[in-house]
Amino acid sequence: MTTYTYPKSQELFERAKKVIPKGIYGHQGVGTYCPVEHYPIFSDHAQGAYFYDVDGNRFLDFMCAYGPNILGYNDPDVDAAAMEQLKKENAVTAPSYKLIELAEKMVETVDMADWAFFAKNGGDVTSLAIMVAKAATGRQKIMMINGSYHGVAPWAQKVGAADGLFSYEQSQNIYLDWNNLEQFEQAIQEHPGEIAAFISTPYYQPAFKDNAMPAEGYWKRIRELCTQHGIVLIVDDVRCGFRLDHAGSDKYFGFKADLMCFCKALANGWNISALCGIDALRDAVEKVYYTGSYWMSAAPFAAALACIDKLKKLDAANHMLKIGKMYTDGLEKLAASYGYRMVTTAAPSLFYIHLLQDPDATSWDYYGPEADLHKAWTSECTRRGVFLTNHHNHFTCAAMTEDDIKFALDVADDAFKAVKQRF
Ligand SMILES: Cc1ncc(COP(=O)(O)O)c(C=O)c1O
Repeated sequence: MTTYTYPKSQELFERAKKVIPKGIYGHQGVGTYCPVEHYPIFSDHAQGAYFYDVDGNRFLDFMCAYGPNILGYNDPDVDAAAMEQLKKENAVTAPSYKLIELAEKMVETVDMADWAFFAKNGGDVTSLAIMVAKAATGRQKIMMINGSYHGVAPWAQKVGAADGLFSYEQSQNIYLDWNNLEQFEQAIQEHPGEIAAFISTPYYQPAFKDNAMPAEGYWKRIRELCTQHGIVLIVDDVRCGFRLDHAGSDKYFGFKADLMCFCKALANGWNISALCGIDALRDAVEKVYYTGSYWMSAAPFAAALACIDKLKKLDAANHMLKIGKMYTDGLEKLAASYGYRMVTTAAPSLFYIHLLQDPDATSWDYYGPEADLHKAWTSECTRRGVFLTNHHNHFTCAAMTEDDIKFALDVADDAFKAVKQRF
């Protein structure tokens, strides 16, 4: 198999660095992909499950724009709905009635939802959820899971970020380990009547580490404790939303959240996010003043309406769960045939993988020498046309077919051959 090179991407990155901080802001600016020379930097166009970089290389994309690509890039039905709406109106003084249609659609689709509120990014609605919980309870403290990501607002930044400048917001946070009910109960005892909310993704999804599912009975007990102590239970479904169950990831795991945050998969790349809530929190959300210049734009509402309808029609979540499993099962077998072990965690539609040189190893550190093989293999797949990162969970989309998975496994096999010479 030929391996890709990226001269145009690299040239563009040098140009970008002159006028854009870090060349690309956020995590992609420096060193996200490892080794960086095996990865494209700028894309040119995309279609279905694939994107093409500025050097003309094609990638089967297991990052799906970090989540927004759920039906396939440029989905004709979603884009037609958005374009039709754009011809009529988009950002206008009075909002389009599409706002109501979408809120009705969310209430009909998401099991726990009695109302919906729309913004633009995931972080807009995780921050709104925190404010709603504070307004509802008159309390300041928030419980959250160590290593989880909820956006970039000061309260959600990593501890110590910006030389501790956000330490006031962070002093209100109580950080807990995933699946640790003992710590959860202890925090409630130590802060009686002070905790407004518990915010968590439906399962543990850190970067640079294995993901983890909820232990048997975990969410049931969390739900009981939140109800008993008047703590608002917020599920951050920004990443998992519509990839486990279109009715909500709380439903998938058999409990009911008070607030649920959606974003990435809501409109197949059109910019919109949503907070859904229960009736008991309607007064609280009305008390919070929150809006933005583009939050009423109509084209993303039209796109989201078409996207949700199509996701349901295709039973997309189950397709993505199946296709993800087919890939990870295949990878596990292939890895074993080379004397390695592929460890797979997370829901298959958002699989997290790491490759171990020692099949009997029980622990793994992304920054240790034992991760060198994993980094080499993922990058060898990428420069053969299957885009994989080595630090983050992956994403599947409804446009991926069994033939795409066969192609991805052929590439994986060739990448194993390439790394076997070195490891
Ligand atoms: C679980 C989770 N919550 C919140 C966010 C923040 O979303 P956004 O980047 O759209 O603000 C992300 C983004 O990756 C996320 O994965």
